[in-house]
Amino acid sequence: MPQFNDTELTAAVIKSFEETPDPRVKFLMEELVKSLHEYVRKTDLTFDEWTYAIDVLTRTGQKCTSSRQEFILLSDVLGVSMLVDAVNHREREGATETTVLGPFYVGEHKPMPHGTDVSPGLSGESMFVQSRVTDLKGQPLAGVPVDIWHADDDGFYDSQKPNYETRGPSSRARFITDADGRFFFRTILPCSYPIPTDGPVGEMILQTRRHPMRPAHVHFLVDAPGYEPLVTHVFIEGDRYLDTDVVFGVKDELVAKIEKRTDALMPDGKPASAPWHLMSYDFRMRPGKGTAPKPMLTVTEDA
Ligand code: BEZ
Ligand code: FE
Repeated sequence: MPQFNDTELTAAVIKSFEETPDPRVKFLMEELVKSLHEYVRKTDLTFDEWTYAIDVLTRTGQKCTSSRQEFILLSDVLGVSMLVDAVNHREREGATETTVLGPFYVGEHKPMPHGTDVSPGLSGESMFVQSRVTDLKGQPLAGVPVDIWHADDDGFYDSQKPNYETRGPSSRARFITDADGRFFFRTILPCSYPIPTDGPVGEMILQTRRHPMRPAHVHFLVDAPGYEPLVTHVFIEGDRYLDTDVVFGVKDELVAKIEKRTDALMPDGKPASAPWHLMSYDFRMRPGKGTAPKPMLTVTEDA
């Protein structure tokens, strides 16, 4: 008869999974139990602390709705999302670096003609984004869908605002690369913004005296058939939060120098109405397979 004291308990729980048919599930469950037990042992976790942890996880679940995923946010601020990304992208071979998808990807965007202003009517400094998608040898990849999305000048995504479904997308679009692998669009210069702090994740950030800011960036999801889907951001050089991103998502290679321009014409030959910014950034794709991520939102709304 096993004695369930603090040393033999772990072995007993691991043994309980021995009939698991799927070897990967068996391995994942065993390792999860080992790490959790190790944490409890190492910290001498008290009942109060255990109850608090259960309450935080409960409230994390309760905060999830069809448009908000508090568990992903928790994973992001604990560095788990970036770690999963890192272990799955160890070999880059010169391909563009990856980073977190984030909670504001809402699924495939509507294709728009090159040059479109994706932020019409929004306040902010104007920016022209030009880019090229190539393979590792620099050969252009044509006909590739590229989803882009970013926050507005107040630091909010369109999907965080009321009536998103009826108002339609803003600072969010899909472009299809041309024969030379290029795409370009107009928008506003994004600013740094706080992740949502009105839930248990924000509570933890504030209680531990961390700041909730992400440095300014534009998200890109490039999904070329025959290549690994690329989920990344391009960050704005000089942002004060580059070194302390709350979700640990910045990589040097993803920081772009944004040129301030006063030319009367933008690169597509159309007039510029004020001083404007130019973001130029090219994406190199690594051959492979994979499915582009889908937004991971809950099915039912709780309120
Ligand atoms: C974002 O960049 O949209 C984001 C990523 C992780 C957590 C919160 C926001
Ligand atoms: Fe973002």
